[in-house]
Amino acid sequence: MASEIRSLAWHDTGLRLLDQTALPQRIVYLDITDVDALIDAIRRLAVRGAPALGAAGAYGVAVAMRQGAREGWDAARLAAEIGRIRDARPTAVNLAGGVDRVSPFAADGVEAVLAEADAVVREDVEANRAIGRHGADWILSRVGRRPLRVLTHCNTGSLATAGWGTALGIVRELHARGTLEVVYVDETRPLLQGSRLTAWELAQEGIAHLVQPDGAAASTILRGLVDVAVIGADRIAANGDTANKIGSVGVALACADAGIPFVVAAPLTTFDDATAHGDEITIEERPESEVLEVAGVRVAPAESRAFNPAFDVTPARLISVIVNEAGVREY
Ligand code: MRU
Repeated sequence: MASEIRSLAWHDTGLRLLDQTALPQRIVYLDITDVDALIDAIRRLAVRGAPALGAAGAYGVAVAMRQGAREGWDAARLAAEIGRIRDARPTAVNLAGGVDRVSPFAADGVEAVLAEADAVVREDVEANRAIGRHGADWILSRVGRRPLRVLTHCNTGSLATAGWGTALGIVRELHARGTLEVVYVDETRPLLQGSRLTAWELAQEGIAHLVQPDGAAASTILRGLVDVAVIGADRIAANGDTANKIGSVGVALACADAGIPFVVAAPLTTFDDATAHGDEITIEERPESEVLEVAGVRVAPAESRAFNPAFDVTPARLISVIVNEAGVREY
């Protein structure tokens, strides 16, 4: 069952990550025992998705402390290494949030940090279950058609979280209630989190789905084939503007034009009240090769350059509701 997929877990040897770059072809685990390996895993998206990054950041503090003890780091070096983990990717607020939450426990030793990191994981799974219930309740109260046709973008399931999922948690809840017909899964270029990861999770659950090119999403919505879109978030500004995987704002625009709900699902750990508006959110730009190559083969002329923003910002005015573990916020 996909609900048992664990994106990460602490073992005696260190942090074990399910390497998401190998999915869906292979199940590969990475045992992380040093800071460089963790940062590499985060940057390569071996571990990814805002809540999973939060948990990885929390356990990462323990990884750094253990490495520091082995290698005789002083306090300044340890703080610098923890800072490197915190900054490994800029957009998802959860990464810094996970590091910052456990860091005060470092003074009490690595076991205290691990206990707090375990709490981050536990709370994330509980939050996701609640998000699933609140989101399904809201959607079923607003959308009359049964069974529902849902569109989602990127991957927001067990792989992207500590377990169960946010937007995909809502999809699972709708399925469990017998109210789901099909999920349109945007493939999510260029790294294919939709086709490689979301479709894999849905297949494990036996949930009917259709993988579609990102470019099909607006048309699928305008043709009346979708009842509701549900996506996750990497950072939600105080005014509700939401950063999520590149392509999300196009889905929101199509939903607004079609008059169907555009639902964002995220735990409170993804809300960043220190950021007033979406235009203050740092958007990660990733290597050009991710766009110019497919599976290592160059697909654009040698002279071509690429623009590869990993995220976009959907303005709050295009969002019907943001679902979190406490309930539903209308925007
Ligand atoms: O670059 P990624 O794969 O880390 O991007 C992930 C997303 O954009 C997700 O939608 C978001 O983090 C929410 S995961 C519950």
